[in-house]
Amino acid sequence: MSLPARPLRLLRGLRPVTVAAPEPDAMLLDWLRADGGHGTREGCGEGDCGACTVVVGELQDDALRLRAVNSCIRPLSSVDGCAVFTVEDLATPDGALHPAQQAMVDCHGSQCGFCTPGFVMSLFALYHQHGAQAPAGCVSREQAQDALSGNLCRCTGYRPILEAAQTMHALPARPLDTAALTAALRALRDTAGAQLRGATGTAWRPATLAQALRVRADAPDALVVAGSTDTGLWINKQHQRPAQTLDLGGVSELGRIRREAGGLTLGAGARLEDAFQALAADHPSVAGFLARFAGLPVRNAGTLGGNIVNGSPIGDSMPLLLALDARLTLASVRGERELPLSDFYTGYRRNRLAADELLTAVQVPAAPPGLRLGAWKVSKRLEDDISAVCLAVAVHCEGGRIVGARIGVGGMAATCSRAPQAEAALIGQPWSLAALQAGAAALRGEFTPIDDLRASAAYRTAVIGNLLLRLWDATEPGGEGLTGLRALAI
Ligand SMILES: Cc1cc2nc3c(=O)[nH]c(=O)nc-3n(C[C@H](O)[C@H](O)[C@H](O)COP(=O)(O)OP(=O)(O)OC[C@H]3O[C@@H](n4cnc5c(N)ncnc54)[C@H](O)[C@@H]3O)c2cc1C
Ligand code: FES
Ligand code: FES
Repeated sequence: MSLPARPLRLLRGLRPVTVAAPEPDAMLLDWLRADGGHGTREGCGEGDCGACTVVVGELQDDALRLRAVNSCIRPLSSVDGCAVFTVEDLATPDGALHPAQQAMVDCHGSQCGFCTPGFVMSLFALYHQHGAQAPAGCVSREQAQDALSGNLCRCTGYRPILEAAQTMHALPARPLDTAALTAALRALRDTAGAQLRGATGTAWRPATLAQALRVRADAPDALVVAGSTDTGLWINKQHQRPAQTLDLGGVSELGRIRREAGGLTLGAGARLEDAFQALAADHPSVAGFLARFAGLPVRNAGTLGGNIVNGSPIGDSMPLLLALDARLTLASVRGERELPLSDFYTGYRRNRLAADELLTAVQVPAAPPGLRLGAWKVSKRLEDDISAVCLAVAVHCEGGRIVGARIGVGGMAATCSRAPQAEAALIGQPWSLAALQAGAAALRGEFTPIDDLRASAAYRTAVIGNLLLRLWDATEPGGEGLTGLRALAI
């Protein structure tokens, strides 16, 4: 595949910059700091602390999106054609602070200051998502908490920072010149795709799906990278040094989300946050569950396809997608094929993707009226933590009887999977707590989970059944208290 070789081109704020020979494993944070941007900090190097948060601006189907992301796990090649804002870009040349910074000062939101640039960048993204002219009070407490869910602070106890988030729009407005930014990003747009060559290897950066499939066929050993929220850790923590990467971030077709009569089609490259908003709009009962996936900067970068292909047994989107009967589209230069998500995994982190294929889309069929749907994640921390177990259940009743049941579980086996025995125990039963109790008993007997740092096998077995009973609490008026479970687990 001969994508043209050229330097990496990005905007630092509004200023065009080129990088002549970026290495495929170079991370944005390291480049920013080497370039003199020492305001952006490195804490964990694995997307957990938010000290490295920057804001990336890009055109998604010509609409400007500004998102807070973790620069420590973000490949430098992935910001080709994007604008990167760091804490150095916020104050005006005469030193006047941006409202996101001034509010932190006014509310005493910083003590030792290590985390502060990262918080300020998350606030900067939140500020401009609402718009500089938005009225004071436009940011709710929940929105502030969600926007800051990927930032850790050891000093302040968070209240002052949340207050900064909720008061920054009361300060004199600081509009962003979005017209100039959009024009500058359009000028960088490159439909030809590119290969970005460093001394040690190449990052392939296709602009279309056809280019991406061609590269995949011609360079099957290139590490496919989407949001890099898993692969970034392989580089930073496992010291893997891919000689070639196939970076899908510039392929806008993969990021699209379509709602049609038959259901939702989520591009494999749809950011988790966008995909989850679409799923939550169709299924409000799982909105709280979806918000428990990582923190916002990881959901802003990570993709649905990356979660599915990574195939962790404790991946959180798969149990829900299994319960919703999702189907996958796999594509290569040879053509497309579809298969149910339930047939995708063949073992621990193994799947049916051929060496020349990419996952391109996830279809979620429209739910029948009255579907009872619930999903729950049990982890040690409420925010930004990994599941010990996860369960999603969809029950379809007609005339008071269960005529369909799909259960997706995570954390119980080598892969996320359905639970056919528990589903069979439910189907045909009258909709009742007794039916769910029978289903829970079958579910507890269906898997032999392992003991690990997150939970013991016995705990997992007990909890997975309890989570199924929660469907009663969640869907029956007055159901809470019958099982008594709502108060027990997160
Ligand atoms: C701090 C932190 C918290 C996290 N919390 C959670 C959590 O709560 N729940 C959870 O489930 N996960 C969590 N994750 C893991 C991660 O965010 C998800 O798995 C995410 O969805 C991965 O998507 P990505 O686009 O970043 O994938 P990448 O890292 O880019 O890729 C992951 C894998 O998928 C392959 N791949 C990606 N896209 C395609 C494609 N279209 N076709 C073929 N192969 C492809 C890559 O080659 C790689 O093998 C967390 C990660 C971090 C760093
Ligand atoms: S350094 Fe901790 S999230 Fe990047
Ligand atoms: S101010 Fe010290 S870690 Fe946040």
